[in-house]
Amino acid sequence: MFKSKDPSKMNKEEALKELIYLSKIIERHDKLYYQNDSPEISDSEYDRLKGRNADLEKYFPTMVLKNSPSNKVGNKPQSKFSKVSHKVPMLSLSNAFSLEEIQEFFNRTRRFLKLNKNDLLEVLAEPKIDGLSATLIYKDGNLVLGATRGDGKQGENITANIRFINDVPYKLKGNFPDEIEVRGEIYISNIDFEKMNLVRIRQGIPPFSNPRNAAAGSVRQLDPLVTKTRNLGFYAYNWGITSTPLGKTLVESRKALELFGFNLTQPSKLCSSIGDIKKYFEELFEKRSNLNFDIDGVVYKLNNLSLYNRLGETDHSPRYSISHKFPPEKGVTILNNVSFQIGRTGAVTPVAELAPVTIGGVRVKRATLHNKNEILRLGIMIGDTVLIQRAGDVIPQITGFVSSLRSKSAKVINFPKFCPSCNTLLESIDDETIIRCNNVKFCNSQKLGRLIHFVSRNAVNIEGLGEKQLKELFNLGIVKNFGDIFRLSSEGSIEIHEQISQLSGWGALSVKNMLESIKNSKNQTLDKLIYSLGIRHVGYGSARLIAKYFIESERFIEEVQKLNNKNNLDKFSENLISINGLGNKAVDSIINYFVNNISEFNDLCSYINLEELIEIKKDTPLSGKSLVFSGKFENLTRSEAKTLAENAGAFISSQVSSRTDILVVGDKPGIKLKKAKDLSIEIMDEKQFLIVFDRKL
Ligand code: IVH
Repeated sequence: MFKSKDPSKMNKEEALKELIYLSKIIERHDKLYYQNDSPEISDSEYDRLKGRNADLEKYFPTMVLKNSPSNKVGNKPQSKFSKVSHKVPMLSLSNAFSLEEIQEFFNRTRRFLKLNKNDLLEVLAEPKIDGLSATLIYKDGNLVLGATRGDGKQGENITANIRFINDVPYKLKGNFPDEIEVRGEIYISNIDFEKMNLVRIRQGIPPFSNPRNAAAGSVRQLDPLVTKTRNLGFYAYNWGITSTPLGKTLVESRKALELFGFNLTQPSKLCSSIGDIKKYFEELFEKRSNLNFDIDGVVYKLNNLSLYNRLGETDHSPRYSISHKFPPEKGVTILNNVSFQIGRTGAVTPVAELAPVTIGGVRVKRATLHNKNEILRLGIMIGDTVLIQRAGDVIPQITGFVSSLRSKSAKVINFPKFCPSCNTLLESIDDETIIRCNNVKFCNSQKLGRLIHFVSRNAVNIEGLGEKQLKELFNLGIVKNFGDIFRLSSEGSIEIHEQISQLSGWGALSVKNMLESIKNSKNQTLDKLIYSLGIRHVGYGSARLIAKYFIESERFIEEVQKLNNKNNLDKFSENLISINGLGNKAVDSIINYFVNNISEFNDLCSYINLEELIEIKKDTPLSGKSLVFSGKFENLTRSEAKTLAENAGAFISSQVSSRTDILVVGDKPGIKLKKAKDLSIEIMDEKQFLIVFDRKL
């Protein structure tokens, strides 16, 4: 047992050692008390241990362990939330900020479905709750799993915590399907949010900046009993898999969810004209301060469910729905300075350094100024009183300045001539709109930017290794490239681990958690791997197109490794060019990347276990087939045909090649038909294509 030494006479190392000891022993006694019901020490002895832990943490705040006993209220603490793969991805919504954009949504949907102007297209309008989305799986009416959205494909298992959320039924009522996945938003009421922050302030803990963060923080507690005290709520608005359909329309399905025992997003209204929508939006905007929870807009969803499958989805959002955001919140502050950031692609971005101001519950200290033209357009100078706006999760923007308050000492914003990071002469492109550092290989800001992108959520997603930590490891020379990150978690790196855990704010446990997370990130799909490389002009959408096109991920890697041969290079680039939706700039940039970075890529691949991207739907005649469309269709738009085929497991290319399986022809198919005949490729007309989907002309 440690003798209680006065914290003021202890050094950091001693404190850390004792904190680790205390966390272990308290955990052991928690287990004995809460799980085995057989405590070995008295309550006062237990309180003494916790008190000692709190004293040390107060004196050494940078040494507080991630799983500190002060953050636990008994019961079994989960060491980590396990991952859950969503059978139906949890998508996001596309955003609109005006009625015109909503009108455009209707026009687009009508065009896609080949509907006439007068055909009725009803939508259900409902509030967009500013919380945290979650999915609940029920089998035989019993709640068996609760998970967060995560990156949309994989979330965290929060079943233990979700049981303590009000409005989440343990058991469904009525005539429920054998299996159903109900989705909705976890939120905290405004009153509970205020109460919780008061307690935090009294305890000297920083308050949550808004109800959304508070709800997210409360549900991701290691101890479910903490979640219980937070009084969270749940509104259902959607569903994933269900063994029997809930209804033919959204209104019918919502009624079913209500009968199973869920609270629904309210008030909702069926709208059949832009006039109805305008009325609902304006009324809700007026009412929002009287609601007991935060909302940031309205969601419109088509009422007719049979259109959902026909419309399909884009990269991240379904085409059957759109969100209409409330107007942005505004604030005024002083522009203290402008700094210049070099991004991962070398582009120099001016960033406004602001006197901190709270807008819509969020503390704003910086705002992007995009480029030189934007600064000229705004006409701002350093020292100006500037107007800021923030819309939902969009990055804060400067919209203007108060000219009457401009002082004589206001300074012109000068762009640097040399890269602030590597001192290379900067290149100006497009009339100086874009200024770029071309030192791709050696500019430290670019290298660090690529590493930060690599570990980010939509890339390989390494928790516990964010921008701050990477910066530190990069500056110390511990992590210089992608492979170095994975080398950190190899057995022989003990010395490095010790070195890191000595750094302020890390601690042995946070290092352990980070290493765990690195290990868990070795399994990747090809789309994520390509996206994570940070290749210029290659966003997630393009990366996914490439991954889908190559079907077998290993084949892509093999082809990349053979690019030193001219013939292979030409073939590879031909393949990329034939990918529908992949632009020429992206193709050039990909080739350039792999030709110049093959050894770093190979090094990275030696740590990655590639998982297959797509579960090919084996039960349709188009599964795994490569399709090309040509000509004009009578009953389908090209987008709908493409969506139908993709939903049936096909891959779409824009050019006929020896790898094409089927050419689907409409009216006036042109040269592609001739090429397909020459290559003896199967040809289908619109009627045959529709029969695959049980639809007639
Ligand atoms: S429907 C395909 N309805 O908004 C996604 N989402 O920006 C279906 N959200 O991830 C979502 N209120 O977390 C839907 N009434 C509502 C919502 C809502 C809040 C959230 C949800 C989603 C995010 C997208």
